[in-house]
Amino acid sequence: MSDLDTPQAGDDRAMDDDVVALLMRQHGDIRNLFDEVEASQGEERRDAFRRLVRLLAVHETAEEEVVHPYARRNLAGGEQVVEDRLAEERAAKETLAALDDADTDDPTFMPRLMKLRTEVQEHARAEERYEFTHIRRSADPGQLATMAKAVKAAESMAPTRPHPGVESGAANIAVGPVAALMDRTRDTVRKTMGEGG
Ligand SMILES: [Fe+2]
Ligand SMILES: [Fe+2]
Repeated sequence: MSDLDTPQAGDDRAMDDDVVALLMRQHGDIRNLFDEVEASQGEERRDAFRRLVRLLAVHETAEEEVVHPYARRNLAGGEQVVEDRLAEERAAKETLAALDDADTDDPTFMPRLMKLRTEVQEHARAEERYEFTHIRRSADPGQLATMAKAVKAAESMAPTRPHPGVESGAANIAVGPVAALMDRTRDTVRKTMGEGG
């Protein structure tokens, strides 16, 4: 893990008010989950991987629904910045879809996971550099807070910590296909954005 991409973690209040702080904390959570998958085995690895898949799906969907549209409309050169980010997200999603029902004990699992990790990491770095810093400069506090609220609503669909009784529970592992989770996330985000006006 490089310290170049260490998120500037704020306190929880900052994350309620600032979509950039919140998304950067999620980038950190994603990195930690990759570490957790790498460091574990068997059932524990399976559980950590399910949480990683879930958070990735929810995170990318929330970005697509909330921050990319804002960046497209409001940043100088925003169209191109967002097109580049969407291309990276598509590539990572394809790798993710291919891994989604992978056997985490299979010898091919770790090399494929590392490929995904590299893609996700480079993408996150590009977002932070070309998109997030500019959003923070251009959005007013109300916009940052409204976007944060929608991303928080999405996040509630992706617990990052293991559930108690993980060894017994099919419920926490059977999240269904990634595509279905993305659909549900999209609905939740749109509803929240709609309420916020
Ligand atoms: Fe993204
Ligand atoms: Fe991201």
